[in-house]
Amino acid sequence: MNFDLTEEQKAVRDAARDFAKNVCLPGVIDRDREMKFPEEQVKQLGELGFLGMMVDPKYGGGGMDTVSYVLAMEEISKIDASTSVCMSVNNSLVCWGLETYGSEDQKQKYLVPLAKGEKLGAFCLSEPEAGSDATSQRTTAIEKEDHYLLNGTKNWITNGGTASVYLVIAQTNTDLGHRGINVFIVERGMDGFIVGAKEDKLGIRASDTHTLLFNDVKVPKENRIGEDGFGFKFAMKTLAGGRIGIASQALGIASGALELAMAYAKERKAFGVEIAKHQAIQFKIADMATEIEAARNLCLKAAVDKDNGLNYDQSSAMAKLYASKVAMEQTVEAVQIHGGYGFVKEYHVERLMRDAKITQIYEGTSEIQKIVIARNVLKD
Ligand code: CAA
Repeated sequence: MNFDLTEEQKAVRDAARDFAKNVCLPGVIDRDREMKFPEEQVKQLGELGFLGMMVDPKYGGGGMDTVSYVLAMEEISKIDASTSVCMSVNNSLVCWGLETYGSEDQKQKYLVPLAKGEKLGAFCLSEPEAGSDATSQRTTAIEKEDHYLLNGTKNWITNGGTASVYLVIAQTNTDLGHRGINVFIVERGMDGFIVGAKEDKLGIRASDTHTLLFNDVKVPKENRIGEDGFGFKFAMKTLAGGRIGIASQALGIASGALELAMAYAKERKAFGVEIAKHQAIQFKIADMATEIEAARNLCLKAAVDKDNGLNYDQSSAMAKLYASKVAMEQTVEAVQIHGGYGFVKEYHVERLMRDAKITQIYEGTSEIQKIVIARNVLKD
């Protein structure tokens, strides 16, 4: 087993680290407080090729592997999880789905600008009454002559107010259960498509999370992805890759908190010495470093499974379950190490602690990851 990164993977990691420090760090606290979308950061992510990292260069992508994606997501999430979630959704949920299952026309029209970072994408599955229970979609797309008529509401949509291309999951035949679900490419500006309220969130406050409303939106038939009834499987396959992105985001939040805690512990003095010399702090740092390394290995295992063409449903769910737990627990420890300073915005760790929570919720709660894992480990 080879744990060494290639020179190319190291270069991607270093470029992401520089980008996070030089472009994301300035203003990150203000963007969080003001819920200001990281417009400039996302624009530069596109210019660096990070919005379509894994897409084939013939469609405008970077042609990189999933390991590189994990490394880049970790580095950017150490500093700015609001920016990294835009990157994760565009790469994993939108570009990957289009590249893997879209028609050649759909790829030329939609994937190319998304991979080049000229447009941003959103993935619209969750509804007011269908979050974890993804088969219970209420949004309908009724087949007409040359189009589908789309009606319904989607909730908690990342990039909801800033995207131009939306992959919308809807029921086309309610009698068929999950086999009557399809996925459609919906463009911003189509008649009847309304971007609703923006959420005021606990964490990743600068990311752009909206309710979307579809009132008799005419979606051309050629905008359906895949065979009739493929939408649910499309969502499940796409989310498996998305979970590698969110697991890496959680990893980055945790490792960012550890870096801050270590720097603080080497500087702050109590009882005459740096607090890093106190065993109480050393025990915390040792636990944090160990759990973060375990989370990193799970993220990389899922990435290697995907890069090797293996099934990664289980490894991606394990990575997300564990890395998000580590992010939540270890950001709390980082705040504790900072003492009173950890409770104020200037020191960043309180934001990382707030950002960590969403990684246990979106792209499937921790409980959903356990369902996926149990089904896989228990099957014959
Ligand atoms: N790959 C391929 N097919 C799959 C699959 C997978 N990974 N998982 C399920 N399927 C197929 C099954 O084989 C089955 O097909 P057949 O009947 O033809 O055999 C069909 O899908 C239905 O499967 P299940 O009976 O297992 O479905 P279920 O209703 O029990 O649900 C679930 C399974 C795992 C709970 C699923 O509903 C799920 O993952 N829910 C969570 C949804 C989620 O992650 N939502 C997040 C929203 S997106 C988001 O957060 C993005 C963002 O903005 C950041």
